[in-house]
Amino acid sequence: MSSFKDLRIVDNFYQTSSYIPMATVLVSTLAADGKTTSVGSYSLCFPYYIAGKGYYAMILEARNSSNTAQHLLNNASKVALNYMPAGRGYNKKIVAQSWPGDTPQEKMKNFGFNLENGLCDPEGKDPKRPKVVSEAYQVFECTWMKDLENAYEDCGRQLQDGEYPGPYRSFNGITSQYGAHFILRIDKVLMKPDLWQNIIDGVKGKKWPDILICHGYRDSKNFWFAKTPRLIPEMLPIREATLSSVRYAADRTDPTVHFTDDALMLMLNVPRIFLPTALKGCVAWAKENGVTEITEREMKIINDKRAKEKGKTK
Ligand SMILES: Cc1cc2nc3c(=O)[nH]c(=O)nc-3n(C[C@H](O)[C@H](O)[C@H](O)COP(=O)(O)O)c2cc1C
Repeated sequence: MSSFKDLRIVDNFYQTSSYIPMATVLVSTLAADGKTTSVGSYSLCFPYYIAGKGYYAMILEARNSSNTAQHLLNNASKVALNYMPAGRGYNKKIVAQSWPGDTPQEKMKNFGFNLENGLCDPEGKDPKRPKVVSEAYQVFECTWMKDLENAYEDCGRQLQDGEYPGPYRSFNGITSQYGAHFILRIDKVLMKPDLWQNIIDGVKGKKWPDILICHGYRDSKNFWFAKTPRLIPEMLPIREATLSSVRYAADRTDPTVHFTDDALMLMLNVPRIFLPTALKGCVAWAKENGVTEITEREMKIINDKRAKEKGKTK
């Protein structure tokens, strides 16, 4: 006998049939006048490409008749995802940006936050970049990748009685009668200085932002929000490999590059699944630098180089 009950799956299951905490994101796009920034509230906004794709991307799920979707489909491809912290009166102001059918002009007349230029266009010279929300704790400035799944073919399509007739795309562009998905390449990550410093310093739980967590629209009446609880770290137990198992993999990586034991000792805590990639990275460095034997010394140079590369955009 199961310890669970079976709950019916219905439209908007993420908020009607479940409990899923989400970020609260104010999405900025350029309005149809091509000049003013329009801001709507969103939560269905998640990492999409996180590594190995040549660029990083988010996915935004929006009602296809929303101002945000209409701007992207008709006149704009630049977006700013403004991640909102908890703050006095913020919930009300964020919910005020959500009334379906309000024009951007109506919404922005009483916009409760401040707008400023982002870092993609700090001087405000690029007419295509929307502004970012000053109160956000972080912002992703993005570009919609309309070439994916030929989503540009959806640009300029007309709503018919508030809906789009088919055909629909699978994951980018107009994806259903009611919805659109936008894969957004991240052009820049903007971070408030204290949070930037926390990441550079290796992250302390007590310096975490007080992120406004959204639990969706429920009871046909309310958007439900929560503040970020105290963060508790949990150490991943290190499972050290044996020197002989790392040697086995190292000796099969490239016959022209030899690893000494002291070099391989520095790789004992690399999880087995990442070991081939890590070893290949070392071999690539060795070949670039005309090195045929990697000792502890070369390994430290490689590690320093990796650490610098991680920090090069900081
Ligand atoms: C906190 C919050 C999160 C929301 N998340 C989404 C979402 O992820 N997708 C969506 O289509 N609508 C979402 N909505 C509803 C939109 O805000 C609403 O459709 C609004 O009209 C969009 O603004 P826009 O038309 O200016 O783009 C959310 C509303 C709130 C208050």
